[in-house]
Amino acid sequence: MHKKIHWGIIGLGNIAHKFAADLQLSDNVMLQGVASRNLEKATEFASTYNAVTAYDSYEKLANDPKIDVIYIATPHTFHFENTMLCLQNGKAVLCEKPMGINSTQVKTMIQEAKSRKLFLMEAVWTRFMPAIEKMISLLDEETIGDIIQIRADFGFKAELNLESRLFNKKLGGGSLLDIGIYPIFLSLLVSGIPTDIKTMARMTETDVDSFCALLFDYSTNAKAVLESTFEANTPTEAYIHGTKGAIKLHRRFHQPTTITLFKDDSETVFELPYTGNGYIHEIEEVNSCLRNGQTESSKLPLEFSQNLITIIDTIKTQIGLNYIADAE
Ligand SMILES: NC(=O)c1ccc[n+]([C@@H]2O[C@H](COP(=O)([O-])OP(=O)(O)OC[C@H]3O[C@@H](n4cnc5c(N)ncnc54)[C@H](OP(=O)(O)O)[C@@H]3O)[C@@H](O)[C@H]2O)c1
Repeated sequence: MHKKIHWGIIGLGNIAHKFAADLQLSDNVMLQGVASRNLEKATEFASTYNAVTAYDSYEKLANDPKIDVIYIATPHTFHFENTMLCLQNGKAVLCEKPMGINSTQVKTMIQEAKSRKLFLMEAVWTRFMPAIEKMISLLDEETIGDIIQIRADFGFKAELNLESRLFNKKLGGGSLLDIGIYPIFLSLLVSGIPTDIKTMARMTETDVDSFCALLFDYSTNAKAVLESTFEANTPTEAYIHGTKGAIKLHRRFHQPTTITLFKDDSETVFELPYTGNGYIHEIEEVNSCLRNGQTESSKLPLEFSQNLITIIDTIKTQIGLNYIADAE
């Protein structure tokens, strides 16, 4: 019998609902506690998803001795303080993306987790999707040869609400951190760290990017063309072109259910749906790591998250995107 994992959730917004619904699909887990800044909201959320305790403060949840692991689902700019609070109270953490606003924050979070021998992982759910696992095995088998080009975009037309999480600088607004992270994640996963980065962005009146275009170059001479935007409904697809073929991740590529392999003038389509809302796969990875006493995931190691935010920092500097934490 597997050890029962007791989860907590901090920040009961949009994504917390989808995550909590998927948590119910997992065997031998319990939603032990949920925390909001508002008790009524926490109580309602707890009753919807069968959580044992509803808290009106994040600190109280972090102090609950029955909780093993806490999912951080607050806006980007709070990930650092919320994660540190949980780690310092002896809890394992699954933190939403981006794990921190900059590489200094992520480094500190990783050091804290390592010094306390606690599990920490960035909630890049895409990594654990069945279709992504298939893509990785096709690449490992060298089905498409050497990678020569990656193209990936993520774009939707967002209603211009300058107070919203997407545009509000205090909440970590901007397309790069919110959705640009997915094309960058994919490029890092398949081709590693670029040797050169070129960028172009458009900033909003709140001084965050509403559009960000990226060109990456690699030591292998592979190239990547990546884009994120809140200005238009773009295809949100990804292509990985190799010397012997290509792989397409169909819309929306960060939660793919279909991939196509193009090789020898033929196309092979793989239908690989995710389960539930798609978060169950990262949940199972965390459960498995905790049951096996691992402090990080081998599929999404902490070094990967450090590299991801370091690339993002380079882009932020180039486009003049900075947050309050960047000045500290
Ligand atoms: N993996 C994915 O597919 C995915 C999808 C969407 C978002 N995300 C990530 O999840 C995080 C949250 O996104 P979301 O769309 O769920 O945001 P959201 O709906 O705005 O919810 C965020 C929650 O954070 C809490 N919070 C704490 N301080 C806050 C403040 N000053 N202002 C606003 N909210 C505050 C609030 O919960 P309480 O009121 O309960 O305290 C709020 O409901 C982001 O970092 C985002 O990148 C991931």
